Amino acid sequence: MKELFTEIMKNFDGYTIGKTLKYLRDPEIISFAGGLPSSDIFPMDFIQEVTDRFLKENGAKVLQYSQIPGEKNLIDAVIKYLEMDDIRIGPENIMITTSGQHGLDLVGRLFLEPQDVIVVDLPTFGGALAAFEMESPQYIARNIMDDGSDVTGFEADIKELLDQGKKPKFIYVVPDFQNPSGITTSLEKRLALLDLSKKYGIPLVEDSPYRELRYREENIPSIYSLDKNEGNVIGLYTFSKILCPGLRVGFNIGPPEVIQKFTFIKEANILNTPKLNQDICAAFLQEYDLKSHFARACSYYREKLDFFLDTVKDNFPEEMGITWTKPEGGLFLWMTVPEGIDTMDLFMKAIDEKVAFVPGEIFYPWSHVSHNTMRINFSYPTKEQILEGVRRLSAVVKKYQL
Ligand SMILES: Cc1ncc(COP(=O)(O)O)c(C=O)c1O
Repeated sequence: MKELFTEIMKNFDGYTIGKTLKYLRDPEIISFAGGLPSSDIFPMDFIQEVTDRFLKENGAKVLQYSQIPGEKNLIDAVIKYLEMDDIRIGPENIMITTSGQHGLDLVGRLFLEPQDVIVVDLPTFGGALAAFEMESPQYIARNIMDDGSDVTGFEADIKELLDQGKKPKFIYVVPDFQNPSGITTSLEKRLALLDLSKKYGIPLVEDSPYRELRYREENIPSIYSLDKNEGNVIGLYTFSKILCPGLRVGFNIGPPEVIQKFTFIKEANILNTPKLNQDICAAFLQEYDLKSHFARACSYYREKLDFFLDTVKDNFPEEMGITWTKPEGGLFLWMTVPEGIDTMDLFMKAIDEKVAFVPGEIFYPWSHVSHNTMRINFSYPTKEQILEGVRRLSAVVKKYQL
């Protein structure tokens, strides 16, 4: 039957992060590999209470098919929630998605034909690459800098492409505490990205799952808000990191003509997002004390991050030649090891020593792979696991360097 598969599927071997996760089943492994928010911050009692209420009061409706663009109560609640972040939109600018990954898939399906070019940072979110890969794109890709994208480099590459008679379809960025690097895009760079988008008429896709998870420094306006509804930006959001990932609810915002097409694609690929889950998210936005919830989450994660950074400093002396980012929020930091070390290889050695991370190559398009980086999740392991895991990781690298 295989010969009947599409060309893309014949060559598609699965999302690499999924393949590395199969090594993590051993309970003795201390994992810095996952992207999981901590279940300690899920509002379990609240979710239990509203679920009981919705099923009791409105069970027949809650368990039915629902509106494709999303439930009105959630759309209204999100519009209000976004106002707190200086984003002012109407119902024509939003569609509820079945998670952030679905939101990414919709972007790929709407804009990309095989060989179309997209603009991304190196590294960038591997799940986005996986979603876009389904449409066989090519890449303009530049190393991310300490303050965000290499906008000058992007512009040079865009000009070169335009000279060849081709225009990129969109620019994809994660400006707040990027997964995987933890880097935050400065205000100057956000404005420069927006200028680039406007100057060349290339939509900017701003993926924002971590925006609420800031542990230090001042909030920087989203690119969507800086655009002031001029229609250059498509914003992707999810409840996964601010509430919990199991509900699989998110939302895409953007110009009405884009949102309308997303709705048509959603009708074909998912149809609708479970109403019960949408109602829980709406209740979370409308009834829960969001301010204390985010404050609690941030203080929980801040403590983990600080502990991780201190532990790494103690275990990776300068002479090892290893550097790491110091994120202002989010769930990840990024380590760069000396050129000679292949972190995929190192990963297998680390598994033997019962510690895990994600090899950095997963976060690069196939055409721009780099082998000496790794993504570290600091939010999930306990402090004891951090202490022991970092010690093991340092020992594995030292052994590799011998
Ligand atoms: C940058 C980014 N975008 C999108 C997603 C997907 O989120 P979801 O779990 O809602 O599918 C993630 C999840 O880790 C992410 O880090």
